[in-house]
Amino acid sequence: MPLTRAELLTRISEQLSASRFAHVQRVEQTAIKLAKKYGADVQRASIAGLVHDYAKQRPDQEFKRIIRQQQLDPDLLTANNGIWHGVVGAYLVEQELGIHDTQILNAVRRHTIGAVEMTALDKIIFVADFIEPGRDFPGIEQARAAANESLDAGVRFEISNTLKFLLAKQVNIYPKTIDTYNAWVAGKSSTGK
Ligand SMILES: [Fe+2]
Ligand SMILES: [Fe+2]
Repeated sequence: MPLTRAELLTRISEQLSASRFAHVQRVEQTAIKLAKKYGADVQRASIAGLVHDYAKQRPDQEFKRIIRQQQLDPDLLTANNGIWHGVVGAYLVEQELGIHDTQILNAVRRHTIGAVEMTALDKIIFVADFIEPGRDFPGIEQARAAANESLDAGVRFEISNTLKFLLAKQVNIYPKTIDTYNAWVAGKSSTGK
């Protein structure tokens, strides 16, 4: 039996701080607006927005255990929560919330690193997370303008900005994040697409 909306909200709120719970609700609203504007599935956008950060506050050890147990990409072991809560978090969304919809799970999975190929729903969650009304950073107005122009422009702006931020911090960059950048910004990915 799928959870009702009220049950889903309770389960999510139990996992998240008050401020993060407010964030996922703003992402939901932004995702719904984008889905309406771009003719995507509003219901899926709503649920994916609500659950996208479900696993964000789990301990690192739990993510590492799942990566090993589920034999996910071994490169993930050297990544961090910023990557894991989406790529690995989708597994917890399915297991614990009983959401088996592949499109929703993929949108959760891809919201932290994007992907070479993204569906409209993937793009909507990726972009909504970045531009929801609570966000405030240098470039936010440009990010919102890009999302208003097209989903693809929103994705391009976001992945460029994210990569610039990671480079400035001189942290390890998960290879698939670079694949996304190459595909969307440089027009070519390392996988040859
Ligand atoms: Fe997230
Ligand atoms: Fe988020």
